[in-house]
Amino acid sequence: MAYDIEAIRRDFPILELEVNKRPLVYFDSGATAQKPLRVIEATERLMRQCNANIHRGVHHLSGAMTEMYESAREQVRRFIGAEHREEIIFTAGATASINLVAYAWSARYLRSGDNVVVSEMEHHSNIVPWQLAAARCGAELRVLPFDERGELRMDMLAELIDERTKMVAVTEASNTLGTVPDLEPIIAAAHAVGAHVMVDGCQGIVHGGGRVAERGYDFYAFSGHKLYGPTGIGVLYGRRELLDEMPPFMGGGDMVDKVTFAKTTYAPLPLKYEAGTSNFIGAVGLAEAMHYVESVGMSAIERHEMELLEAMTSRLEAISGLRIYGTAEHKCPIVSFTVDGTHPYDVGMILDKLGIAIRTGHHCAEPVMTHFGVAGMCRASIGMYNTMAEVESLARGVERAVSMLR
Ligand code: ALA
Repeated sequence: MAYDIEAIRRDFPILELEVNKRPLVYFDSGATAQKPLRVIEATERLMRQCNANIHRGVHHLSGAMTEMYESAREQVRRFIGAEHREEIIFTAGATASINLVAYAWSARYLRSGDNVVVSEMEHHSNIVPWQLAAARCGAELRVLPFDERGELRMDMLAELIDERTKMVAVTEASNTLGTVPDLEPIIAAAHAVGAHVMVDGCQGIVHGGGRVAERGYDFYAFSGHKLYGPTGIGVLYGRRELLDEMPPFMGGGDMVDKVTFAKTTYAPLPLKYEAGTSNFIGAVGLAEAMHYVESVGMSAIERHEMELLEAMTSRLEAISGLRIYGTAEHKCPIVSFTVDGTHPYDVGMILDKLGIAIRTGHHCAEPVMTHFGVAGMCRASIGMYNTMAEVESLARGVERAVSMLR
């Protein structure tokens, strides 16, 4: 079936906006994706008609909301290909998920003299929590570098991963370079020495990621808002045996079994890691977003986005002095670039005057900037609702910015 881009665009009310008297051209879905009506209406309906705290009341609304929250968990389990519902923890977002693992997992598994390997292309949220954990436990942080194309240096795995490696933390798709690394050899190398693998799925889940059990991920994290869902809701997947072994992270309501001043026992999974009132409306909104993308078809979305990526890459690289960072063989639809003689912020601001939204700066991946010796980059990230005409508008906008700035 043909990809009905016009029908899809009608599902996203924000795309009707004008910015600076120009139709909005939104190329910042890597930072946060726009929301389809189905998600907007579902969350509004819940607040109007079904709001009540979950797991706590005998009354009708609480029961109804609890049922929807737990169905959302089941939808997430299915969507990411996990085996057990207890392995799905709702969090505030990917950052919260990774911090949870870095804290609770390291308390159980990381000791002085051990090491944690992260890749050079990680987002700060898959670096800093591991730095903190390593500092707390007296462990070493090791870095798996990438080459000039933005491919991870698989040839260095044997050197970096050894008997003292306890965790390898790596992205499913780089938010800056767009690289979709082949995780299979990394997971195999980690598991061969008994280490665990944390996969950051923030960009990946939107572009063919997940299938966590089949791919052998030990932990997987992503945010709802990049997957066309609400903000403030995210997911942690963890293998049941590991989550069972780890101590709790945050203490509070819902995560306990019995509390006395002498001793507290904890609720079984998944509630052990869901202290306090969860973002239950966000969780149902996220499930709705998953239903939406599935109704369009993940592979149809991917084909559409890949066509746009190819067009954007060849159109932009033809601009004199423009350099694209990240030319890996497998990429998600993200194009980061700089143009000689211009500052990324200036390019971004001129594009904004034309109604075009891109991200500028270090993209929360400063080691990537350091690698290429730049302070920042422009980044255009493609969503399911972007069009070829918008790719052309972006390219013309960049040409115009460059002619004004040079
Ligand atoms: N992590 C988000 C990005 O890459 C905010 O832009």
